[in-house]
Parts: sequence; C-alpha cells; structure tokens
Amino acid sequence: MNITTVAEGIYQLSVNVENILFEGLWEIPNGVSLNSYIIKGEKTAIVDGVCGWDGVPESLFALLDKMDINPESIEYLIVNHMEPDHSGWIENFKKINSNFKVVSTAKAAELLDGFYGHTDNIIMVKDDDTLDLGNGRVLTFKEIPNVHWPDTMATFDTLTGTLFSCDAFGAFGSVTDGNYDDLLKEEEIDFYENEAVRYYSNIVGAFSLQVKKAIEKCSQLPIKIIAPGHGIVWRKNPNKILEDYERYASYSKGPAKEEITIIWGSMYGMTEKAVRYVEKVLKEEGIKVNVHQVPEDSWGTVLASVWNSTGIILAMPTYEYKMFPPVAAVLEEIGKKKVLNRKVFRFGSYGWSGGAQKELDEIVTRLRMNWEFLEPVEFKGSASEEELELIGERAKDLVKEVRNAVNK
Ligand code: FEO
Repeated sequence: MNITTVAEGIYQLSVNVENILFEGLWEIPNGVSLNSYIIKGEKTAIVDGVCGWDGVPESLFALLDKMDINPESIEYLIVNHMEPDHSGWIENFKKINSNFKVVSTAKAAELLDGFYGHTDNIIMVKDDDTLDLGNGRVLTFKEIPNVHWPDTMATFDTLTGTLFSCDAFGAFGSVTDGNYDDLLKEEEIDFYENEAVRYYSNIVGAFSLQVKKAIEKCSQLPIKIIAPGHGIVWRKNPNKILEDYERYASYSKGPAKEEITIIWGSMYGMTEKAVRYVEKVLKEEGIKVNVHQVPEDSWGTVLASVWNSTGIILAMPTYEYKMFPPVAAVLEEIGKKKVLNRKVFRFGSYGWSGGAQKELDEIVTRLRMNWEFLEPVEFKGSASEEELELIGERAKDLVKEVRNAVNK
C-alpha cells in the first residue's frame, strides 16, 4: 500500500494482514489492516507501527523510504498500546535507530519490558500530558485503560483535531489507499460496519463498560478526525464511529437489534430437521435470522451475530449426558464476552437420556449471563409432527419477546 495524507503533516502507513488467526484465535476472512501514522512537526513521531506478522518491519522501512524519511530521524515512538500487532516491530526498528524515545503509559512501559526487555528512553505519560513536536504541533494523551488491554491510551493532535485511538473505534477488513470515510461509497462503509461489529465482539466486547468510559473521555476533545489502529479513518463523519461504538457497547447488556441467532449442532440430522423447521417459521414471522452451525462456523462469526441479536436459539443434541460439545464451547466464549440479558429458547434431540439442559444452566449461571429462557423442548430421537409444531410455537413466542424487548 501507499502512504496517504490524513491531514496536514500527518501520514498514514498501513499494511494488510491476511490468512492468519488474529490473536492466534479469530478468523479474519476479510483480513485486517495495521495502521501506523507519521506525525511531523519540527520533530517526527510515529504512532504505533506496521510490520509483517513476523515482526520484520520491511514494509514500514519501504514506506518511510518512499516518504524520504530516514528512520533515524524519528524521535518519538508513540506506543498507544503494547499488544504486538502494534509494537512487534520495535525490536527490529532498534537495530537501525537506537536514539528514539518511547512515549507510552506506565503500564505499557511495564509490558514493553516484559515482552521485549525494552526499558530505555521511555517517557511515561498520563491523562492530559503533552508532547510538543515543534512548529505549533502539540500532542496530548488520554488513558483509555482496558480497551482492551490495561495499558491503552489515545493520542490527540491538537493542531488538526486528529485522534489516534489505536484499537478503539477500529474494524477488521483489509483496506486500500482510499480507506477514508469521505472517499468510500455507502456500501463500502456498510462493509466496514459489519467488520467493526465482528472486531468489536471478538476483541473489545468483554470490556464494554471501559469502552463507554473511553467514549466519554474522548468526546471531551474537539475531534475532527479519528484515525484508529485498524480499519478506516473517519474524516467526514467521526461521530458515526463514536455512535456505532456506543451502540455496540450497549448491546453487551442488551437489548440489541431485532434479530435472532440460531446456534446449532447435530450428530445425525435429528436436531437439524427441527432447525430447518424453525428457520421456516421465523422467515414467516419476518424477523432477521442468523444461522450458525458449529463447529463448522467460526467462533468469531457466531459472536458477531450474537452480539447484534436480542434473541438466541440454541439447538443441540445431548451428547454423553451433556450438551453437544461444540455448542458448549462457543457458549462459554459468548458468556466470557459478556453477551448478557438475552431472550433464549433451546430445543434438541436425546437418545436414552437428557442432560444438555443441566450443563447449559450451569454455564449460564456460572458466567452470570442472566439469560431469560422459554421452556425448552427435548425430543427422543427424531421430532414428531406435534413436537415440531410445539417448537414452532415457542419460536414464535421468542419473536414476540424479542420485539417487546427492542421496542419497549
Ligand atoms: Fe490491535 Fe489490541 O491490538
């Protein structure tokens, strides 16, 4: 990718990463961008960094070369957040520039030592501290802890009103040189909104309370541009991503959208038969439905759908006296991400004994999910016509519950 100009004296250097599991866990079918920014005053600073997933910053060096910036002239490395997707290049950068100063929170400094043994020349900053780059360019800092690591801060350029927010207000999805909201078509903005929900639910969602605090704190600044560490830069309408993130944060406690997500697994097609019947019923009810079979669908995709949904249907057989394991596994993760206060209906097949409900109750209670359940329907082997009808009726009851919750 090429270097692009964000605002006067601020340049974006981004690299797309594809075909990896983000954080070693999350599928990113549309890739992700790692965004880095050069800020030029009399002195030069770089905010976060870009490199290949192996920590070798060849792409960064090539981009700096294109800008005619000697890496040795970079005086400040602003580490908004120490997670290696942003900082993994620093050790290699040190081989060509040993005179830079790191600007970070005290917590990030501690992590830099822990991860890389880096302890030299660190300027530790806290809320409202400033850094004067000269030529009228003064940066100020806001700590936004636990979005999503405890070390995180945002950097604000007072000259142009640009907020470098790192993971906050970010999105999955590879970008092009035109990754600015004022250059993107409406459908492209929609694409990044979907990528933002998936990113939020996978990476940041468990910290929604802290996200709300970060939004409140950042909103005190005269923001004109939001330049996150992943995804697109908001130049025309930065309020959109602030409002979107506020909405995503509210979905943790619910209600979310007027949607139902079906998470299902089936051993020999008995539960699947009932799932297909319910899909038909819900379609007739005219509600948006997201359907995920596990383990076939990735956790990240399931989480994104669940995050948006006020209603959830769990469909799985009993397996060795417990829930079908892939459903139990994704449910644990959903609970840990704090998807709370949902309206839920469960059905499924059993052979000689039930047991799925007991494990489901245990998980939901232990993780304090506060889910409200309709009476479950279990059937021996294959569901009869009567049992299918009962499942269909419960699914319609769930639609009513969802609509009541969203529209009250
Ligand atoms: Fe993009 Fe938490 O690192």
